[in-house]
Amino acid sequence: MSGYGEEFQKLIEAVEASRPARVEMAKRGEAFPALTMTQREEWLGKYHPDYKDEGRRAVKVGPNEGQVFPEEVSELLESKSILSDLKIDLSKPDYETDLLVIGAGGAGTAAALAASDQGLKVLVSTKLRHGDSNTVMAEGGIQGADQEGDSPYFHYLDVIGGGHFTNDPALVGAMTNDAPIIIDWLERMGMMFDKFPDGRMKVRHGGGTSRKRMHSAGDMTGAEIMRVVRDEARNRTDTIDILEFSPAVELLTDDNGDVTGAVLYNLETKEYYVVRAKSVLISSGGFGRLHIQGFPTTNHYGATADGIIMAYRAGAALQDLDSTQYHPTGVVYPEQNVGLLITEKVRGLGAQLVNIDGEQFCFPLEPRDVESACVIRECLDIEKGIVTPTGRPGVWLDSPMIDILHGEGTVRKELPAKYIQFKRYGIDISKQPMLIYPTLHYQNGGIKIGADAATSVPGLFGAGEVAGGVHGRNRLMGNSLLDVLVFGRRAGLAAAEHAGKTKGDGKLTLGHVTEFEKSLKDAGIKKPTVGPIILPDYTPDHVKSRQWC
Ligand code: FUM
Repeated sequence: MSGYGEEFQKLIEAVEASRPARVEMAKRGEAFPALTMTQREEWLGKYHPDYKDEGRRAVKVGPNEGQVFPEEVSELLESKSILSDLKIDLSKPDYETDLLVIGAGGAGTAAALAASDQGLKVLVSTKLRHGDSNTVMAEGGIQGADQEGDSPYFHYLDVIGGGHFTNDPALVGAMTNDAPIIIDWLERMGMMFDKFPDGRMKVRHGGGTSRKRMHSAGDMTGAEIMRVVRDEARNRTDTIDILEFSPAVELLTDDNGDVTGAVLYNLETKEYYVVRAKSVLISSGGFGRLHIQGFPTTNHYGATADGIIMAYRAGAALQDLDSTQYHPTGVVYPEQNVGLLITEKVRGLGAQLVNIDGEQFCFPLEPRDVESACVIRECLDIEKGIVTPTGRPGVWLDSPMIDILHGEGTVRKELPAKYIQFKRYGIDISKQPMLIYPTLHYQNGGIKIGADAATSVPGLFGAGEVAGGVHGRNRLMGNSLLDVLVFGRRAGLAAAEHAGKTKGDGKLTLGHVTEFEKSLKDAGIKKPTVGPIILPDYTPDHVKSRQWC
């Protein structure tokens, strides 16, 4: 019994009818034409959620005062501290360390390893378990120009072009030059990359890449990366301590405003802990769970913008935080999977996007923002989308093309997680297409950093999704797994250098919070929300207000 039901089965007939001609075209190496640069700009302006005026407003305080961000972000940037009404004794820290790492996904773990290599004592605090992060959920791959015919130079040009020339060139140079080193580092730690029988790496295209440089581990590349870096970190019990279920809720500064530690909150015991550190790294990920513009998300449950909020209060400048990435292919059916990621690898393997009439309507590997704009246009403007029983628009992603193009069994081999995820609901994606629509995937901007991951505040570093500038206003696939490791490692090294120059015995204060909250008052913000929020609140209002006796 198919999970699609009769109505969808009928609609799928149009996809099946056009498939043989599309497959023949693909076999001849012919593709649907990509948009011209002018069309790209026009379609982005008309259809991409980032280009809407609604749902955005200027932030009234802080280093980026006057800049327009999504409302959800501005509200949190103007929030007051969880600690405002509490008395925390800062005079006797519960922990003292060289480097405090806030967030234990790919970036935080890579930083801990790099700092530990330098002989530092590292304390890693994480909101949930070690590795619970967007890194572990990443599917399709990691870019690295380590194959014949490619070079960091081409990779650099792709990243800059994909970001519409808004990226920070120094950060892109750092990332693309370090990429082959990172791939080699992962392999030496035991990562199981997809390979040909003769041992060569299997590499593929992602959207907006001029060379095949996407390295993968099935469709669970992030989980495999996290496996090796986490194992390595957890083996280093002499230098790396990990506190789980202990999110940071505020940074601490000394009398000069340098960052010197943080306050952690233990989610289980509900106690606060004070940490003194010579260097502090924020690697706590992005803001997907704020559901910007009402979109569902691919993101990890803890992606609630905490790091940005704390860093902003301490005076760190932000960059491009008004730019959000909507992944073109999020699940819209079955309802239980709504918003979940369908990796770009599916299109990299040849699957095409088609509308209700079975027509292909865009080049499948446009840069992500452009591809998403194409899908939205097809559904909302052209009205050639499909509507699910709960009213969600979507188009077909014709995954059965993959087995036809590459041989029976390819879907199960290359996309095992996706195959199981749909099979659970009676849909065999090697035989039936998937219904997709853009989903909130990534925070393009974030804390402004340099190539050494240093922020504008002494003692504070930022790496991974929490930081901005690397990808400009649009990230290409496979560059976030790379970014977290490149800048995680760079942060670990730079934090070690900083720790070596710092006595680390200054007074611990929350002076920056007092000052920030004064600026809230001065700006006329009378009832600020409390932030960071730590976890998203999905309790419906009618449930919250129910009186239980
Ligand atoms: O499509 C994907 O597999 C996502 C990868 C990424 O965001 O880099």
